[in-house]
Amino acid sequence: MTRRRFFGLCSAAVGCARAEGLLEASLEARPEWMDLDGRAGWRYAYNGRLPGPVLEARPGDTVRVALTNRLAEATNLHFHGLHIPPTGSGDNPFLHIPPGESFTYEFTIPEQHPSGTFWYHPHVHGSAARQVSLGLAGLFVVRGEMDEIPEIAAASERFLVLQDWPEEPSPMERIRGREGALVTASGLRDPILPAAQGGLMRLRILNASSSRFYRLRMEDHPWYVIATDGGPIPEPAGYDELLVTPGQRVEVLVKGDRAEGRYRLLNLPYDRGGPLFRGLAGETLATLEYQGRAETTVGLPTRLPEATPLPKSDLPRRTLVMSEGMMGMSFTINGRTFDDRRVDTRVRLGSVEEWEIVNRGGMDHPFHLHTNSFQVVGADGVAERARRDVVLVPRGERRVIRAGFFDYPGKTVYHCHILDHEDLGMMGTLEVAA
Ligand code: C2O
Ligand code: CU
Ligand code: CU
Repeated sequence: MTRRRFFGLCSAAVGCARAEGLLEASLEARPEWMDLDGRAGWRYAYNGRLPGPVLEARPGDTVRVALTNRLAEATNLHFHGLHIPPTGSGDNPFLHIPPGESFTYEFTIPEQHPSGTFWYHPHVHGSAARQVSLGLAGLFVVRGEMDEIPEIAAASERFLVLQDWPEEPSPMERIRGREGALVTASGLRDPILPAAQGGLMRLRILNASSSRFYRLRMEDHPWYVIATDGGPIPEPAGYDELLVTPGQRVEVLVKGDRAEGRYRLLNLPYDRGGPLFRGLAGETLATLEYQGRAETTVGLPTRLPEATPLPKSDLPRRTLVMSEGMMGMSFTINGRTFDDRRVDTRVRLGSVEEWEIVNRGGMDHPFHLHTNSFQVVGADGVAERARRDVVLVPRGERRVIRAGFFDYPGKTVYHCHILDHEDLGMMGTLEVAA
């Protein structure tokens, strides 16, 4: 884990360089014959690494990422969760980089951008699930206010990129969303997470699987959540379990206050609906191991950086209905499958809207919006303080989100983040205009 962490960080060795105000990276997407926990196979990797290098920037930075496509098919990059332009050489999901070609993505992270855990992955409609599940995914960390909180700065930081490794799916498995039996955490099977007694561990967890959900429990150690997808929450909140759907991130603190020994990070079974549910038994994703004492005891922080709440919306609520058609034969939003030439939703630049996302299907669908994060509104009309960009809408249920469409005009997308569902058409286009 420690090795991974250092090799994964932005450095010349992984094709990445950071100077004051500038992050420059080159990512080469290439098929590689690689071994994972004794299972050799063809994977897709950025710069030969699974997962790809961790890119790190700060608010205000210019980011330049040169992508070279050495695959035999088109690919591209999406900067999941970043509030940056969805057009031109920014976070443009409509670009396709053909085999053998390169493209440089360039954008500026706004000064007021929250610090948090974001990520990059390919977004070619029809092949997103396959490309991501073959290994194309990496973290994009924005450092800022959160990292300056003394207790958090004193914590030992680890990245946990959760990936599974599916085989080529059958049509039924595709409908459900492909899953692999092997699960890795930052490229390793059951790595050791070294903990210090009296210390604090900070984990940045990303579900980079194309379809698999993770229900996470650490033996004898509660999770203290400090951030969701879109950045900090007002104060640490304790949970025994965390459900992390594809695309979601969560940052947690773990207190090193138990007896010496080893504790398992378990993935508990979760039924997300649909055919072929195997009711898997719990599996171990990583193992926390106490290795010595912290120099000074660190407690939980009491306050975290403020996130600006979104104002209420005075516009009528929109409804977006996700459904699977007959036997999963058509994956739609509001009755239509994805078409990039169409505009499904038109929004005014600078407005705040509430969307009711309805799941009429037989499977759970994690709904994701590009470019702008949102707050989930409870049944009482009160919006959660946390910012997210993926919300789970369980089968037969509905969720209301409040989103602000600030700063960036242009066309982008929203979709189910079970990437097979997105590839099968459960995606719509959004145009923000003045
Ligand atoms: Cu992480 Cu449009 O996706
Ligand atoms: Cu995204
Ligand atoms: Cu779905």
